[in-house]
Amino acid sequence: MQPTLLITKSPEETKTLAFEIARVLHAGDCLALYGDLGSGKTVFASGLKEALGAEGEMQSPTFTLLRSYDKNGGTYGFYHFDAYRLGGADEWFDLGFDDLVEGDHVSLIEWADIVEDALPERTIRVKIERSIESDDDNVRSIELLFPKGDPRADLEF
Ligand SMILES: Nc1ncnc2c1ncn2[C@@H]1O[C@H](COP(=O)(O)OP(=O)(O)OP(=O)(O)O)[C@@H](O)[C@H]1O
Ligand SMILES: [Mg+2]
Repeated sequence: MQPTLLITKSPEETKTLAFEIARVLHAGDCLALYGDLGSGKTVFASGLKEALGAEGEMQSPTFTLLRSYDKNGGTYGFYHFDAYRLGGADEWFDLGFDDLVEGDHVSLIEWADIVEDALPERTIRVKIERSIESDDDNVRSIELLFPKGDPRADLEF
């Protein structure tokens, strides 16, 4: 499946993209985020959380492995995982995170490469990179990859 390649030129544009993606999400969707330190994964996550209308202030999960936001008035509850401090997929399973991802919340996982082997087949992948083609520190290239057979792969963002 061909990835969609997008460029954002500010944190706000990355959040706007998260809003657009949120419109096509379903209960139980899982988004895997890839990208270096400071690439913009948490910026994207905060946009997504806001778009879903999930309850509560956004907090960086850097020192926690998971922040959970209830649905309340919003569309879906939201799980924000950060796998940075995990040793791998085994730890993910030990913590029972695989069961959480199977539920109705929309899940987003920062540093998804660390738990790659634990990701469900339906995972939507979002790869964020600082653009090498630009000197502007605020430019990011964002690759969006829906799983095989997912009709959302044909949408334009
Ligand atoms: N186009 C852009 N999209 C997203 N963030 C941007 C962009 N341009 C500049 N930034 C800045 O880059 C930083 C991204 O930080 P963020 O915490 O989202 O990164 P991260 O990928 O979550 O890092 P970590 O791996 O440490 O969790 C922020 O300071 C943000 O303001
Ligand atoms: Mg982060």
